[in-house]
Amino acid sequence: MSEFIPVNEPLLNGNEKKYLAECIDTGWISSEGPFVSSFEKKFAKFVGRKHGIAVTNGTVAIDASIQALKIKAGDEIILPTFTIISCVLQIIRCGAKPVLVDCDPSTFNMNVDDIEAKITSRTRAIMVVHIYGLPVDMDPVNEICENYGLLLIEDAAEVIGQTYLGKQCGSFGDISTVSFYPNKHITTGEGGMILTDDDELAERCRSIRNLCFQPNKRFIHEELGWNLRMTNVQAAIGIAQLERIEEFVCKKKHIGKEYNELLKETKGISLPITKTSYAENIYWVYTIVLSNEIKKTAHEAISILSQEGVSCRPFFYPLHKQPILLREGYFRDQEFPISEHLYDKGFYIPSGLALSDRQQIKVVEKIKTFIRKCSKEKKL
Ligand SMILES: Cc1ncc(COP(=O)(O)O)c(C=O)c1O
Repeated sequence: MSEFIPVNEPLLNGNEKKYLAECIDTGWISSEGPFVSSFEKKFAKFVGRKHGIAVTNGTVAIDASIQALKIKAGDEIILPTFTIISCVLQIIRCGAKPVLVDCDPSTFNMNVDDIEAKITSRTRAIMVVHIYGLPVDMDPVNEICENYGLLLIEDAAEVIGQTYLGKQCGSFGDISTVSFYPNKHITTGEGGMILTDDDELAERCRSIRNLCFQPNKRFIHEELGWNLRMTNVQAAIGIAQLERIEEFVCKKKHIGKEYNELLKETKGISLPITKTSYAENIYWVYTIVLSNEIKKTAHEAISILSQEGVSCRPFFYPLHKQPILLREGYFRDQEFPISEHLYDKGFYIPSGLALSDRQQIKVVEKIKTFIRKCSKEKKL
């Protein structure tokens, strides 16, 4: 059977085994183990934050942040429509209102020029989400937050190790979150972290993570919490991964640059932009957007490439199109054409840390063959 190239595969060949063996040998496998606080401190230091609160995934990191910020029914939060559903779940569950903006066609990030017009007297926060490897243009967002007294929530799940004007992503929000799912720059299997410089917020997050147990009145609860505790086993992997973060970001950039070179002459597709005035692309995933002359959708392309042994993934289905959210009465008749177009025509190709040069060449060959066939069907 011919080789199948996965869209992502993590690299786990550093100190992961050694630290995992320590968990087994010492019996520390729960969240009480020493790797957890060590991972929190190391990761917070890497990002340049005072506090890191390790949790079970990036989605609940956002959920807990929204609760910790006391976002309540009637509050409005401005966020991009072109993002994962994780960003909106707790906003909706707590009765707040998500207010969407479209994205920039070249960076795929929320169009910061659209934010101000969406602010009302009920707006409490802006949630920025750095998408696919380039950061959101933070200076204008910071200015808006300052001018209007808004909270800033930063979802940095996809850009661990990326910087905005030299400052680490994850260091901008009143509260920021990351994910350590295996397709992220560093992984703990499942996992996430909340980051903040605010002592009180950090304490609230720690409490929410741990069922809101009270230190001196255990089993007496004043607030509804969650069990979001990361285990020592996950943190052990996280520490080993963090030791290699610079190398991993370099590898991602290398993969991106190779694809840029190998695909630059291919007509009918647009490649990710290499940089903006504030950051170089670190290619968390390598994206392809089919031009309109290619009469295939991204889904058709993914299916054809999959039959050829190349695993790809579609872009985000915009929040304003999500059936569950429409059924619940959100975003009726709202249109965000750029996000919709990107969903129709965009997908990402194998770009995980374990991808070899040889695999990359094969991916490129398969993409070129696909485009050639499309062009023959309809002359470009
Ligand atoms: C931008 C963004 N936010 C949040 C998440 C959710 O993270 P997790 O899968 O760890 O729940 C993801 C996951 O891919 C993501 O891409």
